Amino acid sequence: MITKTTIDRIMEAIDIVEVIGEFVQLKKRGANYVGLSPFANERTPSFTVSPAKGIFKDFSSGKGGSAVTFLMELEKFTYPEALKWLANKYGIEVEETVESHENKEEENHRESLMIVSAYAAKFFHESLLSSEEGQNIGLSYFKERGFNNETIKKFELGYSPDQWEAFSGQALKEGYQEEFLVESGLSVKRDNGGLYDRYRGRVMFPIHGFTGRVIAFGGRTLKTDKNVPKYVNSPESEIYHKSNILYGLYFAKKAIRDEDNCYLVEGYADVLSVHQAGIENVVASSGTSLTVEQIRLISRFTKNITILYDGDAAGIKASLRGLDMILEEGLNVKVVLFPDGHDPDSYVRSVGTNAFKNYIDQNRKDFIIYKTDILLKEAGPDPIKRAEVIREVVESIAKIPDSIKASVFIKDCSHILQIDERALLSELNKMRLAKSKKDAQQGAKQAEQFEELPFEDIPLEKPVREDYSQEKEIIRLLLLYGNKMIDWDGIANTYIGPFMIAELGDVEFEHNPSKKFVELYSKEVENGVLPDEQLFIHLPDKEVVDLTVTLLATKYTLSENWYEMHKILVPDEQVNMKATILGAIFHLKKHKVGKILDNLRTELQNTQGDENTEILLTQYMQMKKVEKSISDYLGSVIIK
Ligand code: GTP
Ligand code: MN
Repeated sequence: MITKTTIDRIMEAIDIVEVIGEFVQLKKRGANYVGLSPFANERTPSFTVSPAKGIFKDFSSGKGGSAVTFLMELEKFTYPEALKWLANKYGIEVEETVESHENKEEENHRESLMIVSAYAAKFFHESLLSSEEGQNIGLSYFKERGFNNETIKKFELGYSPDQWEAFSGQALKEGYQEEFLVESGLSVKRDNGGLYDRYRGRVMFPIHGFTGRVIAFGGRTLKTDKNVPKYVNSPESEIYHKSNILYGLYFAKKAIRDEDNCYLVEGYADVLSVHQAGIENVVASSGTSLTVEQIRLISRFTKNITILYDGDAAGIKASLRGLDMILEEGLNVKVVLFPDGHDPDSYVRSVGTNAFKNYIDQNRKDFIIYKTDILLKEAGPDPIKRAEVIREVVESIAKIPDSIKASVFIKDCSHILQIDERALLSELNKMRLAKSKKDAQQGAKQAEQFEELPFEDIPLEKPVREDYSQEKEIIRLLLLYGNKMIDWDGIANTYIGPFMIAELGDVEFEHNPSKKFVELYSKEVENGVLPDEQLFIHLPDKEVVDLTVTLLATKYTLSENWYEMHKILVPDEQVNMKATILGAIFHLKKHKVGKILDNLRTELQNTQGDENTEILLTQYMQMKKVEKSISDYLGSVIIK
């Protein structure tokens, strides 16, 4: 467990704009900052950060919370992982209390995989730098390829000894568990039960997750044997999902944001060479074809992607269709082709940084233009093929969400294709129309889902949707006014929070987050503490944080309805705090009694004149009385 002192120090250091700013481009708007939601695909920013409150709220996905919950949501960190990340960012030393055996056993699966991966990265790195075999084979290979010490260190390159059990044996000896060694793919289980090393005799490229922790590996063989796969990569695991990882992103993200452009290459070696040349905004999709998740990952930092291709044209055509996906995400795609036989790695090494940059600047082409060129060349003079080219090009242009940008491409392409601009435009409009019909259908569906978002926690089969608005109203008031003094007649020297807790008595909260909130609030009050919003914002419990943030960030409308319902003429709840507070409490009580009455009524309907009926009727009448007294009370508080 991380100690309370450490947590406090981390909380003090957190600048939420700075933390979230590492993942989302934020712009100042009034007292807040806004940006595009990293949780949803959106074109208009609805993601808001309030530095004053230390919270964020994402209005398109409904998520919200503190810097800590943000990391937990985005990075899928556990609470301690998020704290450690923050501690690392702010240079705070983490103190931990010794964990009990059970705690250790319970320790999160993901964390164990990360720990094993970190250990392996260190093992391979040390074996590269310090063992004789590593130096002679691995290190000399990297040196030969031109990677300097700084690069080798930064990317934690390594070497896996050419022995069956060098790594697995050592790892087991040091107490790493077989389960995680196998699941992370570092070790393979033999039929007879023993473990052997997966990456024997390979140079190792650790793959860093978004926050810099090693989550997987690529191991390259040094053999020229065609039957040996050149690269062996980690299998998918709980910490490694190929489709949303880009090699090098952790080291590139700052430069990507600064340069407002991301270079996309194919291989590990390309990333390393280009990065080493001082062009740090470079990532690789590492063999897999680019996925939407990867594109969205990039688009958190920039809307501009420049793809650096090998000279060989075979793969290029295959990838053309895939690139439409990038256009669809609203990104600008440029393409650079290297001279035959060169990939970015070999080219930058042969010509140097400056010439490499110049080459890129001079040969950078918009993807659409590039696609048009290639397809046209292929089609030759055949008119049918040319017609097909036109269709394909317009299809790509139709994917661009920004219509002004699209019309510029129409103009350029009409030139290249030697076709009247209007003909292209009419083709474009046809496709657009078809697309917008489809989108409209999807949009309606999404809107429906959005409506349901705040109430996710309620099972749908319930006939009447319970929104727990009365319970949430109590929480809202505790948050806003709990630590204010009561200054209405008859009561003095009391704070609103403890007063409310006492008044609520043994009312059972049913909405789980509200229940937990009230329990914690009561406990603090018992201990003589008046909790404020910051306590709840920084809890490890996501549900409670969500509730807190939602109540703080959105204008809660219940009270307005409530005023209307009860014919209160004061528009501002603070003007008559007594009515606001007592009203909310008794409103909740009334609601609870109402539910009990409902249940009794149902039961009464189901019993046919047996002895139960009498008991139920008595209960019913008693409850009715309670209901009436609450109503009367409500009336009297409100009228005053
Ligand atoms: P060098 O040949 O050392 O320059 O490596 P490279 O990183 O440039 O790789 P290359 O251009 O040959 O391939 C691009 C990427 O595809 C690599 O970085 C790997 O991620 C992936 N890749 C290449 N070969 C294999 C393979 O045999 N198996 C798997 N799983 N991935 C591969
Ligand atoms: Mn290469």
